[in-house]
Amino acid sequence: MSRFIIEGGNRLNGELKIPGAKNAVLPILAATILNRGTSTIHNCPDLEDVATMQEILVSLGLRVERSNKTITVYGENIVTNKIPESSAGKMRSSIVLMGAMLGRVGEIYISYPGGCAIGPRPIDMHLSALRKMGAEIDDLYKGILHSKASRMRGAEILLDYPSVGATENIMLAASLAEGVTIIRNAAKEPEIVDLQNFLQQMGVEISGAGTGVIYITGRDEIKADVSYSVIPDRIVAGTYMTCAAAAGGEIILNGIEYEPVSSTVYCLRNCGVQIEPVDKKIIRVKSDRVPKAIEVVRTSPYPGFPTDMQPQLVALLSKAVGTSVVIETVFENRYGYVEQLMRMGADITVRERVAVIKGVKRLTGAFVDACDLRGGAALVVASLTAEGTSIINNVKHIDRGYESLEEHLSSVGAAIKRVQDD
Ligand code: UD1
Repeated sequence: MSRFIIEGGNRLNGELKIPGAKNAVLPILAATILNRGTSTIHNCPDLEDVATMQEILVSLGLRVERSNKTITVYGENIVTNKIPESSAGKMRSSIVLMGAMLGRVGEIYISYPGGCAIGPRPIDMHLSALRKMGAEIDDLYKGILHSKASRMRGAEILLDYPSVGATENIMLAASLAEGVTIIRNAAKEPEIVDLQNFLQQMGVEISGAGTGVIYITGRDEIKADVSYSVIPDRIVAGTYMTCAAAAGGEIILNGIEYEPVSSTVYCLRNCGVQIEPVDKKIIRVKSDRVPKAIEVVRTSPYPGFPTDMQPQLVALLSKAVGTSVVIETVFENRYGYVEQLMRMGADITVRERVAVIKGVKRLTGAFVDACDLRGGAALVVASLTAEGTSIINNVKHIDRGYESLEEHLSSVGAAIKRVQDD
């Protein structure tokens, strides 16, 4: 177990490179299951969930090699349809293995997915879509899902909500299904477009990702040698922006395009932060450390303000001039971290999905707990601007989405270090 010790007050200055996106690489690695050829995936971030997905692929019988940021999956052999419970339970995105395995081998045993503790995260849309495509799914003893199909069939599917994971699961199942699948009310996130681009490279006829309707014509078999580079992580980029906004200073983000982060930029500009694209993949962030309040911000599916940036924004608004209102519309219970911010002196009232944040003049360093990934990132944002020392426990949650966060933030001037618990 490790902790971060952060001395607040330092301004940030310098350049940060944006790594590959966690939420893009995981479904892409799942998609390699569909391919009997060799998939070489570049720009893979060094994160525990990525290592877990890699372990799962190995446990299925696939040969997997990792060299720095590149993971190569040799797809000849799959020897089992059982996903190890210990791995699947660790992360939410293991659920997309269902679509990939049903497509490739027609059967899977998998436990209910794990992931961050941010309220109930049902999988009803995943299951009803896969059933519509011909899968029989039953709940086995102790929450193991067993699903089987002699061959998946293309289908028209209307999602009740543009779920990211359900859209990905259907895209994967449809790639080896018989006939055409149409997903309506599909998620439009950049990670969906990235998955489409990868599937296209493997020879799948798929179009429409990034809009609300995706069309996929299934293939009988996929056997292609492909090389693909994962998109940069827009949430890491957004988190760095809020860090700079809170701490003050001027940083350059290298490797991120403007469009995927535009809703975060829009909100931060409303807080008075100066953010400019200076080149195709370079964004400059400048802040005088005194954010203004925002009247109301609602999280919503892309291209709206991302729920994965909500905690970091609330942390920034804790010290804003004036009162802000944040409404979480995507997840039911995503304010678990607020109690920790209040230990640092924040004045926040949460009622169901609404948080009212009265900006305070100062936050003070405190002993706090990271209870989930983005909530943990919010505590880092707050600690950078707090007076005195903060100790953030349970950094393992933060590590799930940020590679060596302390090294990157120290490289631009933050006083942050990692210590191991006794
Ligand atoms: C993905 C992201 C996560 C992000 C979220 C929303 C990954 C690995 N994770 O999660 O970081 O916060 O998108 O942008 O990519 N829902 C149902 N039934 C379902 C599926 C979802 O009710 O069958 C609900 C969820 O409980 C939630 C909402 O739909 O309230 C959105 O979930 P979804 O878009 O599926 O998020 P994830 O794919 O889990």
